[in-house]
Amino acid sequence: MEKHHLDPASAAALDELVREVTAQVSTVHGAEFHRLAAVLAHELPRGLREVFVDFRLREPSGALLLSGLPVDDDRIGPTPAHWYPDPDEVSPSLREEVAFGLLAQLLGDPFGFATLHNGLLVHNIIPIKGYEKEQIAFGSDEKLEWHTEEAFHVHRSAYTALLCLRNPAGAPTTYADIADLEISAADRAVLRQPLFETRPSGSHSAERNKFRELLPESDHERWGRSFAATEGIHSDPVVQPVLRGAEDRPYLCLDPDCMTAVDDEAAAALARLVAEVDRRIQDVTLTPGDVLFMDNDRAIHGRKPFKAHFDGNDRWLKRMNIARDLRPSRDRRLSPDSRVIF
Ligand SMILES: [Fe+2]
Repeated sequence: MEKHHLDPASAAALDELVREVTAQVSTVHGAEFHRLAAVLAHELPRGLREVFVDFRLREPSGALLLSGLPVDDDRIGPTPAHWYPDPDEVSPSLREEVAFGLLAQLLGDPFGFATLHNGLLVHNIIPIKGYEKEQIAFGSDEKLEWHTEEAFHVHRSAYTALLCLRNPAGAPTTYADIADLEISAADRAVLRQPLFETRPSGSHSAERNKFRELLPESDHERWGRSFAATEGIHSDPVVQPVLRGAEDRPYLCLDPDCMTAVDDEAAAALARLVAEVDRRIQDVTLTPGDVLFMDNDRAIHGRKPFKAHFDGNDRWLKRMNIARDLRPSRDRRLSPDSRVIF
């Protein structure tokens, strides 16, 4: 994992840009913010831009951990009880979200899925009461099994990023990089074939997204079609390889809970790969101000269990999905600069 600490001068320069942005926009969920961020990210300190450009172009690692982003624990207020923001309120963590969005621009274009958090571009990752035992980002008591983000989706992110605002229990994020795995030549050959049926995770279901309660009625039909299309993938799954790209440095798409091999040979290769990930997986305990940019074509991630107290002081991360190129999803977005994939 590449690591970089934000030095005081860079933090001050970033803060200056955050002030400029927050004087003009009051949410990070619209195209206006991302257009502005795309312009202003060019003014981030050169050393910082070099770190991100190197990570993006040379692919030295499956993740880049940037530490030292200022987080004002008092101003951001209590950890919210629900993932959805109050539409009538400016987010108390807007400054942190803007900083996160500016940095994300150095890797690509942030985007959202209509079927995930109602298409919001920056997500609250928090424990929610009632979901303690569930295999979902809102869970807590149970381990969140490791996975490629949106393994089932043809337009899954190139990078998935997590900004830590709060993590009092020190709940570890889990992480493994394809480069650290030992995979036999025979297994590699099998894993490169389209033999693995991949279905959506529960996070993309209509029940988990409150779209009818939170979206205007005029949006219900469009959103409903998107949820129905995603639901349809359960009976007509994406069939894809687990490995692709260069023979010596392959890319990975792997979510064992959502994947089924089509034959015994593929199932055996998949089982050996899963065991190898389990052998090599490591903990990354994020602390406030840490930003973890994971290469979704190389790294898998999850989370270890932790005890949530639902007292306003629980673990609180912000998450963003970032594309290297938005254009391949154009037929599923409403306009060239829309960031929501239906
Ligand atoms: Fe994830």
